[in-house]
Amino acid sequence: MCSVVNFNINGYHYKLPVVYGTFYEKAINISQLRDSTGFITFDPGFKNTGITKSSISFIDGEKGELLYRGYPIEQIINKCSFIETSYLILNGELPNTAQLKSFSEKIKKFNHLHKEINKIFDHIPNFYHPMGILSSLTYILDTFINSLQKEDMYLHLLAKLPILAALIYRKKVGLPPPHVNPHLDYTSNLLEMFFSIPNKSYEQNPIITDALNKILILHADHEQNCSTTTVRLLGSADTGLFSSISAGMSALWGRLHGGANQAVIEMLEDILRSGGNIKKWIEKAKNKKDPFRLMGFGHRIYKNFDPRAKIAKKVAENMIQKLGISDPILELAKNLEKEALQDPYFVEKKLYPNIDFYSGIIYQAIGIPKYMFTVMFALGRLPGWMAHWKEMKNNKDPIGRPRQIYIGYKKRNIQK
Ligand code: SDX
Repeated sequence: MCSVVNFNINGYHYKLPVVYGTFYEKAINISQLRDSTGFITFDPGFKNTGITKSSISFIDGEKGELLYRGYPIEQIINKCSFIETSYLILNGELPNTAQLKSFSEKIKKFNHLHKEINKIFDHIPNFYHPMGILSSLTYILDTFINSLQKEDMYLHLLAKLPILAALIYRKKVGLPPPHVNPHLDYTSNLLEMFFSIPNKSYEQNPIITDALNKILILHADHEQNCSTTTVRLLGSADTGLFSSISAGMSALWGRLHGGANQAVIEMLEDILRSGGNIKKWIEKAKNKKDPFRLMGFGHRIYKNFDPRAKIAKKVAENMIQKLGISDPILELAKNLEKEALQDPYFVEKKLYPNIDFYSGIIYQAIGIPKYMFTVMFALGRLPGWMAHWKEMKNNKDPIGRPRQIYIGYKKRNIQK
């Protein structure tokens, strides 16, 4: 393994150090590049750029593997709850029984909203998109949480975000604000807060609770994706945790990122409505003149199956079968995946289904409407966002401030 790279520019010889990761992924450390050569690098979308060293999650895009703190997602999904996974991602190790009990109890201690939040919420027009409301209320949250201990702020968010999500959903469907049931575990309480009706508790179904637990775990962290990098970038400017998370939610909302789960279902419904001609839509996605893209397909890092999509597909199939519901959208999604993966365009460009391709089918089977899908993604990604913000602080990363290549006017004078 080389420790430096050597290169020549205009007859001058330079060397730069090499940085290696746990799995031997390698990077040229260019922190001294401009000072020593006068050059900067140019990498729109950071496709080839590592912005930090992190130990939270690792993606092997070629093999289609994902690890949370070293544990394969396939093991976590079958052996852990979402709260255990949140503890692991935030603290680096799985909790023992006592630690898990204390973590869960502390979260329950904070599972209420300040009455001012409810007053502010009442003035938000119901037509606002849930992601805009969630981001705004998250930003306001810490105004009403005083005497914050450093560790408590993570627990406040884990406790309060599901309440905000349920509050938003219930107002959309005309239900009164949610009530928290402290006797239920995190996922069951989330379902209770969403779906209980006045004087009737939600009838817990282990198939649904298990599916929700799994889909939250699948979203818990994913290296330096757009929204996580947004959270880190804000934190690097010494912006508070809540405001950084609020900004991460806005980044997640984009259709190319977390907004894709809603776009996938809308796409599948369009295909069904137009007669289900899969080949026609695949040709549309390949046509460079057509802005249409196969939503839920492709990924910046995975050039093999997204392991989360494989798991989500199994969860969706298992859930639909056990609940005894027929879902034409799931059948269509499976046929679309099959057709696309036989098409040279998708094979050559290594475009596989990503997490968003099947996640909406699970949310829909739970009873969650499309406009809430990205909010559910945010609930799952919360531990990852917080862990990266915490890691950035511990790393003492410098403020994120990329350079650019200027192509505007030369210096000129105002003529007047
Ligand atoms: C998430 O980063 C993360 O980890 C994100 C995420 C997470 O957990 O945080 O995994 C969650 O955001 C998953 C992605 C959800 N988005 C979608 O499903 C939207 C559809 N996918 C594409 O828009 C695209 O694949 C991206 C945005 C996901 C990735 O874009 P890249 O890496 O910038 O790749 P690209 O757009 O440069 O595409 C490379 C080629 C292009 O063709 P050429 O110009 O080389 O001829 O592949 C084509 C693209 O046109 N292409 C597609 C396609 N995705 C890429 N063609 C048709 N349909 C698609 N979906």
